[in-house]
Amino acid sequence: MQPLVEMRAVRVYFPLQRGEIVRAVDGVDLVLHPSEAVGLVGESGCGKSTLARALLRLLPLTSGEIWFDGQPLHRLSESEIRPLRRQMQMVFQDPMASLNPRMRIGHVLSEPLEVHGLARGRQAWQRAGRLLERVGLSADHLHRYPHEFSGGQRQRIGIARAIATQPRLLVADEPTSALDVSIRAQIHALLRELQREMNMTILFVTHDLHAVRQVCSRVVVMYLGKVVESAPVDQLFTTPAHPYTRALLDSVLEPKPSQARRPRSLPTGDVPTAIRVPPGCRFHTRCPYAQERCRVEEPPLQPVGEGQQVACHYPLISH
Ligand SMILES: Nc1ncnc2c1ncn2[C@@H]1O[C@H](COP(=O)(O)OP(=O)(O)O)[C@@H](O)[C@H]1O
Ligand code: SF4
Ligand SMILES: [Mg+2]
Repeated sequence: MQPLVEMRAVRVYFPLQRGEIVRAVDGVDLVLHPSEAVGLVGESGCGKSTLARALLRLLPLTSGEIWFDGQPLHRLSESEIRPLRRQMQMVFQDPMASLNPRMRIGHVLSEPLEVHGLARGRQAWQRAGRLLERVGLSADHLHRYPHEFSGGQRQRIGIARAIATQPRLLVADEPTSALDVSIRAQIHALLRELQREMNMTILFVTHDLHAVRQVCSRVVVMYLGKVVESAPVDQLFTTPAHPYTRALLDSVLEPKPSQARRPRSLPTGDVPTAIRVPPGCRFHTRCPYAQERCRVEEPPLQPVGEGQQVACHYPLISH
């Protein structure tokens, strides 16, 4: 199957005034297949948002390639990308920040339809009503303003706007992190449903592994600007291959009754930053399994199981 998205050796660096460089995304290869829901997880600051924005070309690449449906996004100009925008949309963490407070919801939702020439006037308004119903709201809400909705409802509006143009790729960056726990699961269920119904590819960025289980079929784990593991969801939970993945899981999963000990947590004393990336395996300063080789040789991302890849010299599983 031809991938919908292919990122090759993508780097996004931010130079700071002091002459230092933030290596936010530092050589990422990532493939997204059509109709696939992929979770992107990792600690805060590991580069998830930067990668998500770079993927949609909302940020310039320092180097590397991004192919979307066979087209070289990295080489296209802004005006050449514009017609592709309807096929790749984003849902943000804070929908309020991207909703104009003085615009009625009907206009918020008709706008993308008009911009991309999909519908106009009354017809666009009617489609906006159907979109609202599709995300669990009502067409009666078309005349209301963003502040008249709850946080969860506003995120439903954010999702409605993102799917208005029937995109093939939806990138959702922590869409539920700001919401009450009770609301989160509803939004996750909605995303899952829409993804199946519309055959969308979703990149779901989160630091919540439980959310990934609800929405995704595959998980990609990032550490300090790099992908360290990729696996089908269930496989990742049962047989993580990277020591960092294992530590992430240990920190969120309930210990089994047979395990008296509390889950291991990662050492936090010497946490490197994207400005000072350790040589060799960048996880070696925190890895309980690090050997001499890890300090000098960077492990490439390699297959380790059925559909599983890991960047580690000494994976926790071998097949
Ligand atoms: N515009 C920017 N200028 C400088 N540094 C940035 C910028 N945006 C992000 N960063 C840095 O890049 C790294 C990755 O950030 P980000 O992609 O937001 O991570 P995440 O979404 O995983 O929390 C962090 O160290 C962050 O401080
Ligand atoms: S390569 Fe070495 S330091 Fe890196 S995760 Fe694997 S064992 Fe740990
Ligand atoms: Mg982020």
